[in-house]
Amino acid sequence: MTVSPAMEPTSAIRTAQRRHYLMCRPEHFAVTYKINPWMDPEAGADAGLAVAQWEALRAAYVALGHQVSMIDPIPGLPDMVFAANGALVVGGRVYGASFTHAERKAEGPAYAAWLRDNGFPEVLEPVHTNEGEGDFLTLDGVILAGTGFRTDMAAHQEAQEFLGRPVVTLRLVDPRFYHLDTALFPLSGDNVAYYPGAFSPGSRAVLESLFPNALIAAEEDAAVLGLNAVCDGRNVVINAEAEGLIKTLDANGFSPVPVDLSELRKAGGGPKCCTLELRTA
Ligand code: ARG
Repeated sequence: MTVSPAMEPTSAIRTAQRRHYLMCRPEHFAVTYKINPWMDPEAGADAGLAVAQWEALRAAYVALGHQVSMIDPIPGLPDMVFAANGALVVGGRVYGASFTHAERKAEGPAYAAWLRDNGFPEVLEPVHTNEGEGDFLTLDGVILAGTGFRTDMAAHQEAQEFLGRPVVTLRLVDPRFYHLDTALFPLSGDNVAYYPGAFSPGSRAVLESLFPNALIAAEEDAAVLGLNAVCDGRNVVINAEAEGLIKTLDANGFSPVPVDLSELRKAGGGPKCCTLELRTA
């Protein structure tokens, strides 16, 4: 576990901001196909246990004071629980998702329709392949965008043009970390935590220059999807198995909120994957 130099002089004072999240109960969750190295259709997964773990995640958000909206799960879409992939919502505008794999294609229009009907009428149907907040992470001044496994680089340009925010491309190189949100999460509007081994040398250099005070996670934390975490500026909802990263967060003035999403990890997902942030600003 390496910890980079102290983040900020004021690292003990962290303020939580109330967030609005969209989630999808994993009633139809299953591992029936393999589109990432975490998935084993032979072993499958238990939807009942996944629902119980997911309910605890939802309860954690509510206990932290966040607003949680819910989209109805659709039979035949076992990965629909991973709401982060459904869209990118910034400044009240919705950049729709267009999935890489046929198995998940129908999720894009389902999320777009929900958002259109629930206060977000400005929806762009994308031309280019992108998996929403799985590969787009929004900070105050910049949107970080992953490519290499799922989201096409042309989608980075499409999102930048539609949202009017600078988008920085980061190249993912380890198939275990196939979405940007499996390797990096925003700690605040201007800092991040990440696992360097998931990125190409050039992208690592970009991250070092943009975030000199980033928290650096070890491989063992990344390997339990510890980087697939959700921070509200103070509280960090994170897989309980990411023990080293939890200690680092604690030492830097954050309040870790450990959750057990082991059943959803069998599909390659963690807390962040289950959570789409609806940003009006
Ligand atoms: N089985 C899903 C897939 O491979 C998991 C998606 C996880 N979502 C995420 N935001 N990383 O597409």
